[in-house]
Amino acid sequence: MADTKIFITDCDHANINEEKAVFDKAGIAYKLVQCKTEDDVIANCQGAVAVCNQYAPLTDKVFSAIPTLKTVVRYGVGVDNVDLVAATKHGVQVCNVPDYGTFEVADQALALMMAVTRKVCQANSQVKEGRWDYAEMAPISRLSTITVGIIGLGRIGLAFAHRVHALGCKVIGYDIYTDHVKSNTEYSYITCCSEEEVLKNADVISLHCGLNADNAKMMNAKTFSEMKKGAMLINVARGGLVDEAALADALKSGHLGGAGIDVTCKEPLEADSPLRSAPNIVITPHMAWYSVQAASDLKTKCAEEAVRGVLGEKARCPVNKL
Ligand SMILES: NC(=O)c1ccc[n+]([C@@H]2O[C@H](COP(=O)([O-])OP(=O)(O)OC[C@H]3O[C@@H](n4cnc5c(N)ncnc54)[C@H](O)[C@@H]3O)[C@@H](O)[C@H]2O)c1
Repeated sequence: MADTKIFITDCDHANINEEKAVFDKAGIAYKLVQCKTEDDVIANCQGAVAVCNQYAPLTDKVFSAIPTLKTVVRYGVGVDNVDLVAATKHGVQVCNVPDYGTFEVADQALALMMAVTRKVCQANSQVKEGRWDYAEMAPISRLSTITVGIIGLGRIGLAFAHRVHALGCKVIGYDIYTDHVKSNTEYSYITCCSEEEVLKNADVISLHCGLNADNAKMMNAKTFSEMKKGAMLINVARGGLVDEAALADALKSGHLGGAGIDVTCKEPLEADSPLRSAPNIVITPHMAWYSVQAASDLKTKCAEEAVRGVLGEKARCPVNKL
């Protein structure tokens, strides 16, 4: 058996059939390990040239301890569990798979927005508890009268913009880069503005930016206080963008009218999280990316990028610049 060149550091999928097919076709030996910590990765992935990685932390300590490692491929878009500065320092090419579930994530944001604005889960609980009173759900606004503010106008943010535009909502958005939006007539319905204007004017704010050192907890007590009374927050991006205690307070005080979140700071959500008892919040278990088709695409594309790394071929989706 040839030396194992590719390690899957961790993977909570039901199987690795797609990865196996790609690695076998390339004739590259691989191994699935289930690492949670830096030390797990160091102990279990010695000799790795490439890793496919889900959540295990890949840090300076890990890169120092596995000098053979040249390529990291994240199952997904976000790379916040990988220390990019350290990777670059050690000559490790970090790649992601940005294009496997764009529509699914946008659909989930829409589903959460519909659930909280139409109070679907609250109404469902009421009926199951034996009551039948639409008035308990008031107020609900006609969707075509609301303004949706999108923070992060990348692939997913723009796919979500199309969806809410189709419902008749006014769409405003903020991104640190907006040239690609302003120069494309396809997005002429989006009004690009400052973050402050989005906070002040949106009835629903949906987060679609990646998490980085500059925007951690960008939604906090101060920014919530700048939002309209009764406004709602949707977060399918990353839990770390939101101060969860402040969100729970804003919902409990009635300043915010609802929230729909697919991602939390700690996943799974802690048993004693204040979000569990907040009103009109719908929480899903980091599932926005998922559909049968997206899961299969993700696994195949992740494995193919790892193979390119081992063969020394150009990466399809590099994240850091070496
Ligand atoms: N819940 C899920 O299952 C799931 C699945 C896939 C992706 N995601 C999350 O969605 C995020 C977006 O994915 P994408 O494919 O659209 O990425 P993308 O890179 O295409 O878009 C992200 C956008 O955010 C912008 N941005 C970065 N920092 C910002 C800030 N501080 N304020 C405003 N805008 C900022 C970037 O300029 C970029 O346009 C990912 O980073 C990931 O965290 C979640």
